[in-house]
Formats: sequence, C-alpha cells, structure tokens
Amino acid sequence: MSTDASPAPRGGTHDGVASRDLRSLPKAELHLHIEGTLEPELVFALAERNGIPLPYADVAELRARYAFDGLQSFLDLYYACMAVLVTEQDFYDLALAYLARAHDQGVRHAEIFFDPQAHTPRGISIDTVLDGLGRAMADAAARWDISGGLILCFLRDRPVAEAERTLESVAPRAHDLLGVGLDSAEDGFPPSLFEAVFGRAAELGLHRVAHAGEEGPPAYVAEALDLLGVERVDHGVRSIEDAALVQRLVADRVPLTVCPLSNRRLNAESSFQALPRLLEAGLVVTLNSDDPAYFGGYIADNYAVVADEFALDDTVLAGLARNSIDASFASPDRRAALLAEVAAWSAR
Ligand code: HPA
Ligand code: ZN
Repeated sequence: MSTDASPAPRGGTHDGVASRDLRSLPKAELHLHIEGTLEPELVFALAERNGIPLPYADVAELRARYAFDGLQSFLDLYYACMAVLVTEQDFYDLALAYLARAHDQGVRHAEIFFDPQAHTPRGISIDTVLDGLGRAMADAAARWDISGGLILCFLRDRPVAEAERTLESVAPRAHDLLGVGLDSAEDGFPPSLFEAVFGRAAELGLHRVAHAGEEGPPAYVAEALDLLGVERVDHGVRSIEDAALVQRLVADRVPLTVCPLSNRRLNAESSFQALPRLLEAGLVVTLNSDDPAYFGGYIADNYAVVADEFALDDTVLAGLARNSIDASFASPDRRAALLAEVAAWSAR
C-alpha cells in the first residue's frame, strides 16, 4: 500500500477508470442501515402507494436536499423520508431493492441494521418491520446465495426506557435477530447510558455492536467495549486520536466498520483521510456503505473511492474483503467458503 494521497488510475466502478471492477471482489457488508438505502425514487413510489404527502415536488428536489453539514443534518432527512415506510410489503421492497444492488456489488453476506424506534412511534409494529425485512433476506438467500441477518439498533438520542421496551417487545422472537446495535446522534449520548439494555441483549444470546467514535470522542469507543461488550465498533475512526486505544483495538483484533463515503458526505474529511493511518496501525478495518442512498455510493463504490484516493492495490483490497468476512457473525463454514471466494478472486 502507498499512503501517497494522489489519485491513482485504478480501483473500480467509482470513476470508470478501473483496471479491475471491485464489484467482482466477494465481500461482507457489516454496516448498512436499511432505511439508509431508501432511494428518492422509492420514497416517491411508496408515498403514492400509501397516500402520504411529501414536502418535495419531485425526485430532483428531494435529491437536492442531500447536502449535509454533519450527522444531525443527515439524520433529520433520514428520519423524515422514512415516513413513507408503512406496510410489511414496503419493508420487503426496501430490503429486496438493497439486496439486489448488494448482489451486483459483490456482497456475499450482509448484516443489516434497522431502527424500530423510527417506526413504532408512527404506529408500525415491530413485527411488520421484521416480517418484511426477514422475507427479503430469505428471498435473497434463495436467489443470490447472500447470507446474513438483522441487527436491531437502539436510537441513542431517545429515552433509554424506550430502548428497553423495544428489546422486551422483540424478546420472544430474538431468534429472528443476529444482534443489537446503537446509532443516531452520538455527541452527548455516551454508550454508558445503554449498559443495562446491552446486558439484557447478551442474556438473549444476541451479538452486540455500537456506533462509536464517528462524531463522538475516542472515550466512547472504550466505553462501548468496556460497558456494552461490543464485538465490533461501527465507524470508530476517531480512535486514531488515542494511541493507547489504537493499541488495545489492534491487540484485541476489534474490527472497525469504516464507511468512507459517509465520512466524506458528512463533512468528516479528516476521518475519510485517516484510512491509511488506520491500516498502517494494524487495525482490523472493514469497508461499508452506511446509508448508500444518501451518501453517493454502495459498497463497491466505497472500495473504489479509497482504492483511487490512497492507491490501494489488489492485495490490500482483498485483505479488506477478508477482514469483512472474518469480522462477520457468519458460521465458521460460511466464513471459510467466502474466504475461499476471495482467494479465488486474488488468484485470477
Ligand atoms: N450514524 C449514526 N446513526 C445513523 C447513521 C450514522 O452514520 N446512519 C443511520 N443512522
Ligand atoms: Zn451507521
């Protein structure tokens, strides 16, 4: 790898100058908010189907709002657009559209976040959400051999008691979930608030992940590890500001689910530019798309943009794909099969 920041004519689908199309690289997606895959065209289609008025004249006017100056300005639009998601079929259509794109982008395993607290206050049951998403995942497994599961995220800027009620409401069907996560506005909402609810999730046999160190400080990353027992850190890029924390993450091989285009679109250019330092430090970095409908690209586009920006060669890119599979919650057999696919890609 070179850390030279000058653009290199290689990489993938992002700018059309690829020597090798990174959609062909088998990979796992570990940081993907299904509501963040809601493309403007689908917003309009679902609004019409459900008779929901929109404050935008057309797709172009909605797309013109996609200029964010930070996490909160994105979240405001993200939550507003979700108002069109109402029925089980809506959640199915949303997820199947994502999975079709994921298939095209080389995703072989997808661990998908969803935000029930963005839906239940609108009168939509968590069963409606889970049934629609689950049916799409089953269809994607049958059609495209994409494995994966669903990760229920708590909204950290809403009351902790609401997170607890959400988890209890879904406890009887915990087997339909892979794990729990923590997302939404980070600053001022430390992981420590959610220690008890993550403890309960562990009792239910669920995996645990959390967003930390996206806009919040490195101390939130340490809290997520110490108090929530997370197995991966979502984003985690600001860990680079704390050398002792970096050492710990490297020693314990804690994966980071990094989302380059998200960082860039949310005006966190210093986070985008941190990638070479994360790799040089020996961190277990994975690349992901976060909210691809809003941030200008799906997962292979994220691989391609960093390949171009940081002149990453095929060996480094295959290593990032291997990390994504190693860091997944797939079964040992499935991980071995997918790692063999990456090895075949490298040998080609
Ligand atoms: N950060 C926090 N919460 C979110 C994000 C994100 O990038 N995307 C959707 N919810
Ligand atoms: Zn995210």
